[in-house]
Amino acid sequence: MSTTTHPTPQAAITVHGPVALITLEAPPVNALGQSVRQLLANALEEIRAHQAIRAVVLTGTDRAFSAGADITEFGGTTTGITLPELVDRLEDFPVPVTAAIAGVALGGGLELAMAAHSRVAHPDATLGLPEITLGIIPGAGGTGMLPRLVGAERAVDMILSGRRIGTTTAVEYGLVDAVLHSGDFAGAAVAWAASRLPATPGPTEGAPTPGPATPTRTRDRTEKIADAAARPGTIAKLASGPLRKAKDPYAARAAVEAITAGIEEEFDAGATAERRLFLERVASPEAAAQRHLFAAERATRKPAGLDATSARDIGQAAVIGAGTMGGGIALALATAGVPVIVVETRQEALDHGLAQVRRNLDVSVSHGSRTSGQADEQFARITGTLDYADLAAADLVVEAAFEDLDVKKDIFARLDANTRPDAVLATNTSYLDVDAIAATVADPGRVLGMHFFSPANVMELVEVVRGARTTPQTLATAVALGRRLGKCPVVVGVCHGFVGNRMLEVRGRQAEALLLEGALPGQVDDVLTGFGFRMGPFAMADMAGLDIGWRNRTSQGTTAPVSDALCEAGRFGQKTGSGFFAYDGRERSDDPETTRIIERVSAEQGIDRRDIGSEEILERLLYPMVNEGGRILAEGIAERPGDIDVIWVKGYNWPAYRGGPMFHAEAVGRGHVAERLVHHAEATGDETLRPVAWLTAPGGVDGAGAPR
Ligand code: 3HC
Repeated sequence: MSTTTHPTPQAAITVHGPVALITLEAPPVNALGQSVRQLLANALEEIRAHQAIRAVVLTGTDRAFSAGADITEFGGTTTGITLPELVDRLEDFPVPVTAAIAGVALGGGLELAMAAHSRVAHPDATLGLPEITLGIIPGAGGTGMLPRLVGAERAVDMILSGRRIGTTTAVEYGLVDAVLHSGDFAGAAVAWAASRLPATPGPTEGAPTPGPATPTRTRDRTEKIADAAARPGTIAKLASGPLRKAKDPYAARAAVEAITAGIEEEFDAGATAERRLFLERVASPEAAAQRHLFAAERATRKPAGLDATSARDIGQAAVIGAGTMGGGIALALATAGVPVIVVETRQEALDHGLAQVRRNLDVSVSHGSRTSGQADEQFARITGTLDYADLAAADLVVEAAFEDLDVKKDIFARLDANTRPDAVLATNTSYLDVDAIAATVADPGRVLGMHFFSPANVMELVEVVRGARTTPQTLATAVALGRRLGKCPVVVGVCHGFVGNRMLEVRGRQAEALLLEGALPGQVDDVLTGFGFRMGPFAMADMAGLDIGWRNRTSQGTTAPVSDALCEAGRFGQKTGSGFFAYDGRERSDDPETTRIIERVSAEQGIDRRDIGSEEILERLLYPMVNEGGRILAEGIAERPGDIDVIWVKGYNWPAYRGGPMFHAEAVGRGHVAERLVHHAEATGDETLRPVAWLTAPGGVDGAGAPR
């Protein structure tokens, strides 16, 4: 985390007739660290002493009611009042408490709000229990309170996905009681609370719709969980789908256990189970990995030499190429509100590409992730042309044409002639030399790479490739645009394949070598899915199509003996019904014919096949990647190990609960990784496996991977 200093936290109390307003200001996001919890506890005590106070409103800042527990405190010892204790005090408070939510109410922040007796929200508020994305579960009553407010099914979905919802959905779910549209949000919340003052035994002063005499605690609201409580097994059934999709199976299973206990037993039994499981998860290596990623992702937003304020606003974008990538990038831009011109060479290709974009939008409407009105509006932002002259108004162009250096150079020369001299020119190349492409433009300072991942409208990662001449303003503009698209832009340097694909190639070479030495595709893939990847390298290759790599290798004069032999046999992967595996539709199975081909190629190469264990497979696939990561750091292609981790988790499905390749090396020990690489280098004669300084330097290495 950065060292930005923020003003001292405050929980200010102001009194408005019978209503006390507590305003929490603990920048940047009202995280509930030890001092903030104490401030809130003190404020409640102070108000409790005032007989005249008949209701309390608790609010935060415009940005955050509260982003939850202070993540930086996890892993240390808790001092002072705990969050569950604070939540208990709030729900047992003698007069009704209203949580007034503007900005985010997340994790412990939402738990605090749920412990209040009612909730009002600004129309733009965001609510959720995202703990699972940190490898933990809600730890201050959330697994018990959320089902009581929104029902079991929605609670299971929200807790297991970590999904955040807006105010409208929160009202529909019953999580928020009223939306306050006023410009003076806190004032409106106070007025709302005053309008619902409970009837008092004595003479009452103007309470138009009195609330109950004693506030109802969320834990006592059982109507929405009555069915699930009466039918044991309901939660297990509701959770079976989300559990399969869960990115962190450990945290997901713990969450299900806590929710089940809180519904099928009593609230308190649930709270006890929740606390135990929360503490267990917080201390787990999986949670440490995801905390690392949380910090690493935020660090990627601060690359060296980036002056975010110099970013230029993009009013009009353009995309060259209406293929899968071009269409996806255009859709991502249009979805973020940026008008896009799509350029193609032939009308037929343009029509086909735009029709595909329209189909993608229609599918998302049928899935409910967009309304048809939104889809129409977004599609209307995309216009097609065959004429480069139409690019005169573009502030930024993303080239997503065929992956061939000459094709790209030709396009950039045309862009140079047809765009404004200050327009940013980005190439979506996944391997090629961005500096060679930039050299075709009079001002290479306006050129850089923006490497999107397919499908570009879905995948979060963008490698922003800084060329040797890219200006700071060009870089800042691309990064800002990436963030505007809701993506995670990571700045990298120029080399073949940049960070992600360069490391993928290293893994691919080892995977091929393992086949030649004795392993089979199913065995290799199982080891990686066992580690937590959604797919192994061979299933992935079959899905992408083996012919693309084959064609590239043929043109570059390189080989991958097994893949080449499969292609020669017409086995291009899923699309031809066979590749490394056999396919019945999408159903994959091991194929004896593949085995025969592999054994034949091994024999041709004079290799005696041997049994290869899972441990060796895992080490041979992962450790060379770490080694390559070390080279990447030493060359300054990536700034920090965490950048590499973010790239692999967001772009290549590295399991988040394993933190990324460089984090994984730290977790098992860099020295251990180095030792195993030496062993494999000697056993295989592959000298590229010799460990680099990032792994071996006795005094450690600096942030760039150079020995200290
Ligand atoms: N604890 C500590 N610091 C936090 C934090 C938290 N819960 N949430 C955000 N921050 C910090 C960030 O690290 C960042 O610090 P930096 O400026 O030093 O880099 C700063 O606040 C601003 O955050 P962002 O850069 O992410 O700002 P955004 O505006 O993009 O996003 C946000 C704000 C939506 C709040 C986002 O930060 C976020 O999603 N935070 C995490 C929320 C979360 O997961 N809460 C659950 C915590 S676990 C919990 O509550 C357990 C409980 O059940 C017991």
